[in-house]
Amino acid sequence: MRNVGVVTSGGDAPGMNAAIRAVVRIAYSKDFRVLGFERGWEGLIANTFKPLTPRSVGGILQLGGTVLRTSRCPRFRTTEGIEKVAETLALNHVDGLVVIGGNGSFKGALKLSLETDTLIVGLPATIDNDVFGTDETIGFDTAVNTAVTEIDKIRDTAISHERVFIVEVMGRERGFLALTVGLTVGAEMILVPEAKYKKKNIFEMLKESSARGKKSGIIVAAEGVADIRNLARDIEENTGSEVRLSVLGYAQRGGNPTARSRLLASLFADKAVELLVKNQGNRIVGLQEGGIANVELEKSCKTEKPLDFSLLQLAKVLAT
Ligand code: F6P
Repeated sequence: MRNVGVVTSGGDAPGMNAAIRAVVRIAYSKDFRVLGFERGWEGLIANTFKPLTPRSVGGILQLGGTVLRTSRCPRFRTTEGIEKVAETLALNHVDGLVVIGGNGSFKGALKLSLETDTLIVGLPATIDNDVFGTDETIGFDTAVNTAVTEIDKIRDTAISHERVFIVEVMGRERGFLALTVGLTVGAEMILVPEAKYKKKNIFEMLKESSARGKKSGIIVAAEGVADIRNLARDIEENTGSEVRLSVLGYAQRGGNPTARSRLLASLFADKAVELLVKNQGNRIVGLQEGGIANVELEKSCKTEKPLDFSLLQLAKVLAT
């Protein structure tokens, strides 16, 4: 019997619980014991964990958030913090550590990998979908669906009042969430950090759209891409449209995971345990071209995941 640790770290994402459950049950089936470290890297610094068994993870598959809790952990960014985590792993004879999180968690895990013999495997889970090495992260589909459900409602009132809405979605510094949400709600304009926008293009688009008979509109903006209050004022002044704002915020991080988020969680966990059985570590698992693959942790951390700009163009055509 060998020991596997599991930890959820960084911003929570729907499907983290499905991933914990799958890691525990699959690891047990391969004769591993599982230690669930609590509150992200904090738990590994403080050596706080609970033994997880196939029974103890019953009833969590459908829950949002993470039963292990999570945190952003500034101490883990220090040498002393990383050394503490390495000590905890050695103390508890943890042979493999499954890290369920996003880019920040993986960057920390990469530094840790230089200080420990424990094999580390990353399971990408973040609503931002910004991890290199996977076409999709656990939680992304749920966040997309949450945002789409809300924006469909906003569309009703936008049409009734002939208003333009700027809807801000999350995504940290990347536009994956905004792009997929924008495309699937039929947004008239999508603003992502990866593509510079000109206000004058927005004014022109809205005026042309109005001339064609479309008197309302939805602009989906990734967080941080624009000062949306200023943008709203400028649109009103330059187009005569009435503009309202809606920030979707943290609702996008919660809620029951969709079937797709649960499926990815289960498949990623299966691959993660398979790697540990084969004594392979310092990798992240992911979805690539429809199959479950894995890449080096270092490569994932050091490579920026590309955004598919052709989808912006497609969204533009679809919104005419
Ligand atoms: O990474 C997930 C995310 O929700 C981002 O979209 C957002 O920018 C960030 O986390 C918010 O972080 P915090 O939970 O620390 O406020």
